[in-house]
Amino acid sequence: MVPAGNIDTGDDGNQKFTPDAEFSAQAHLKSQEDYETLYKRSIDDPEAFWSEVAADCHFFKKWDRVLQWNSPFAKWFVGAETNVSYNCLEHQINQGRGDHTAILWEGEPTNQDGSPKEVVQLSYKTLLAEVCKFANGLKKLGISRGDRVTLYMPMIPELAIAMLACARIGAPHSVIFGGFSAQAIADRLQDADSHYVITADGGWRRNKVVPLKSNVDEACGMTKLVKKVVVYKRCGNDIDWNDERDVWWDEVVKGMPDTCDAEHLDAEHMLFLLYTSGSTGKPKGILHTTAGYMVYTAYTAKLIFDLQPDDIYWCTADIGWITGHSYIVYGPLQNGVTTVMYEGAPNEPEWDRFWAICERYGVTKFYTAPTAIRAFMKQGPEWPAKHNLSKLKLLGSVGEPINPAAWHWYHEHIGQQRCPIVDTWWQTETGGVLITPLPGVTPTKPGSATRAFLGIDAAIVDKDGNALEPNENGLLVIRKPWPGMLRGIYGDEARFRKQYWSEIEGVYFTGDGARCDEDGYFWITGRVDDVIKVSGHRLGTAEIESSLVSHPKVAEAAVIGFPDEMTGEAIAAFVTIKGSDKPDSNLKDELRKHVATTLGAIARPKDVRFTDALPKTRSGKIMRRLLRELATKGRVEGDVTTLEDFTTIAQLHKE
Ligand code: WTA
Repeated sequence: MVPAGNIDTGDDGNQKFTPDAEFSAQAHLKSQEDYETLYKRSIDDPEAFWSEVAADCHFFKKWDRVLQWNSPFAKWFVGAETNVSYNCLEHQINQGRGDHTAILWEGEPTNQDGSPKEVVQLSYKTLLAEVCKFANGLKKLGISRGDRVTLYMPMIPELAIAMLACARIGAPHSVIFGGFSAQAIADRLQDADSHYVITADGGWRRNKVVPLKSNVDEACGMTKLVKKVVVYKRCGNDIDWNDERDVWWDEVVKGMPDTCDAEHLDAEHMLFLLYTSGSTGKPKGILHTTAGYMVYTAYTAKLIFDLQPDDIYWCTADIGWITGHSYIVYGPLQNGVTTVMYEGAPNEPEWDRFWAICERYGVTKFYTAPTAIRAFMKQGPEWPAKHNLSKLKLLGSVGEPINPAAWHWYHEHIGQQRCPIVDTWWQTETGGVLITPLPGVTPTKPGSATRAFLGIDAAIVDKDGNALEPNENGLLVIRKPWPGMLRGIYGDEARFRKQYWSEIEGVYFTGDGARCDEDGYFWITGRVDDVIKVSGHRLGTAEIESSLVSHPKVAEAAVIGFPDEMTGEAIAAFVTIKGSDKPDSNLKDELRKHVATTLGAIARPKDVRFTDALPKTRSGKIMRRLLRELATKGRVEGDVTTLEDFTTIAQLHKE
């Protein structure tokens, strides 16, 4: 085996891995010069640049103008008409890929010998037929252009089918991660004013059935909005049934024609909402529209994963998060490759499940999260060593900073020192990747997401917006609009302006801290706001706090994230309780459980501490910084001059 990546320790002491010549030779972008020339053009003349990129996509009607920028509101491909579902399906079939496998799915349950009980392969033609049948079924249920449809489903092909069916008829989808609980579903249904839900009886996770339908039932009880619930039969578990509201998926598609013309949608038609956590208050519905998102996901997927016609591409994310939207469904399908989907846990039945899947299907491109890599590291290299991973050509990482130790392990034990690693930085709001290596071009430095993608004007600034010198820590901002950017927060223009465009005048504020080194490489240090990343899952402190205070015994709660070796960050909750009862460890467990049931297991605090009072400023603001110091270092060292009551800190120290 040729150890790719010629290792070079530069003057700065950073190890650099330069792309293998063989990889570069076959890549879409082959050299630094390719990148520099294109990058310059993309920044100097973005309209010409994006108009050329968009020429690979199919439009029913061409745009009149590439960009209309009325800060902070962007319109891309103004006046054009297109359909993302058409681009993922017919546009591929028309290029001769009809019989090529589009989706290759494996369910979680296994036979005695570890082989999967169920595998489904859908060609582009079959996928089109399934999407059309379901789209016709949705129309028959009364769903039409503009109706928001909520999807709460396991990782099964029907989830992708439902998304593509919604996109086809112009009904924006709102996918909710299957790990969220009833209250979270109800909040999102309410905010999106969504009358239709698509779910399944259950889904398999760690050999157990996740009771999706019963969570939906409970959520429907909390809002009076839902008119129809479509239920896919996945696990055959017992469920309650409401004859007026519920309908089986099989009934919906029965007798439906397998053709359904894709709606000609305006470029700025809403494609989907995806709820995510912010600094304050309830989750916000991030709004993405049709043409810009389509062009951006197609192009980023093509260049960053260097997608080629025979690729078997696997992104292990859940479709309930943006990574799954952009890089399981819309990006890969627009590139005509095979996208692999897996239903369950990485350690079911054993810790080699991912590598077994890679070997079984000859996965060529593999995209996962640092948390998963750290979990595999802990189990040892003997698990991947059991499998033939020689088909792998490229690895990706997303969701949180990848620590160099995990990077090296990934490079050695999964990539076998042969595969370039693309550490991709982006957000729900950005629609697609903004900072990333290009695999045939960019020398990588473990721990850095490297450079800005084409068309992306990223910079590090101080809080007044002044650009900082190399290696100075500051705030990451994006100074020019890009096609995949969010168009708003659903129903809350004021919050959209405040959260993203007012912190630093006139530019998009990411909420991340970072520095940029002398080579123009970005090093992301993490969120500077109250967003926590636990195992790459994005949560807001405010949501967890409101779950805690909904418990009858809790008076006040403050939640913070603190560094954790395995999950990146973990949640600590500081709680004051009502009355004079002495809190005990039973109450700690009860509160952790309460958060898991009201919000979802991913939000369960690792640590709960009781205190008589929370440290606050004189104006009543909780001083999270102090709590963070306490959770991280075990003591408070920083400035406490604005603290109102010093005894709270003394008491917290005692805890
Ligand atoms: C973090 C996930 C460092 C970052 C696609 C961002 C990363 C937040 C990286 C968005 C990376 C994502 N290196 N940090 N490669 N990728 N992040 O919306 O803090 O779930 O702001 O989107 O994840 O999380 P979200």
